[in-house]
Amino acid sequence: MLTEKEKWEQIATVNDYIDFLEDKTIDWKTLNESFIDKERSGFWVPANIKNLPSASELIDRQPAIKANELNRTTMTQSELELHEKHNYGNGYDRHEADERFLKIASLLGFNDTSVWINNQPPGAMMARHVDTISCLVHEKIDEIKNDPFDTELRQPANSKPIYRCFVALDDWYPGQILNFEPQFWTEWKKGDVCFFHWRTTAHSTANTGWHHRPLLKITGTLKDPSWVHSGKIRSFDYND
Ligand SMILES: [Fe+2]
Repeated sequence: MLTEKEKWEQIATVNDYIDFLEDKTIDWKTLNESFIDKERSGFWVPANIKNLPSASELIDRQPAIKANELNRTTMTQSELELHEKHNYGNGYDRHEADERFLKIASLLGFNDTSVWINNQPPGAMMARHVDTISCLVHEKIDEIKNDPFDTELRQPANSKPIYRCFVALDDWYPGQILNFEPQFWTEWKKGDVCFFHWRTTAHSTANTGWHHRPLLKITGTLKDPSWVHSGKIRSFDYND
């Protein structure tokens, strides 16, 4: 019987990674917590986008996944069972992004993206976790399943570095809690763009207020990532 570490070291392809994540004998919580690196945790806000369209009508529609349901699209079986045991749901309503919001990903220079609108309604909360970018991998699985996988970076080996960011689709309202350990992103304005070290940062969210909390979640590679690391705040205009 192989140990979890031995199984991890045997991952060679993207398909092996998916099989590993879906392995029911693996303790999801222990595995997920092993990704945390406090020295390399956190978030930063390197851009703002002016003149974003309003998401208010879109988030009032029926979501693809509801905040209070558990769904195998966003969780592995063992992850889902643990969430069920502790009464957690998905944590946010997941909506498909239409053309207006997909445009934001190209405006920022993303390629090969996965783009979703995550709206956290009042009363919802998301359990603490580290991301596995399984959404991106699942959405492209037919194309990339035999590609080599980088277990250090936790992404396909022959891809450019994968980034993940959130774009605020509305201003922050009191009661909206977004914890990228060890800090909190708070008092954001509509159009603020927040990147975080997704490979190593434990994060969790809750909406204890009375306003929806819509964020655009973008995962993908960047044509030129230099602006993300420039230490400055870049200004984009949606209408450019
Ligand atoms: Fe996450």
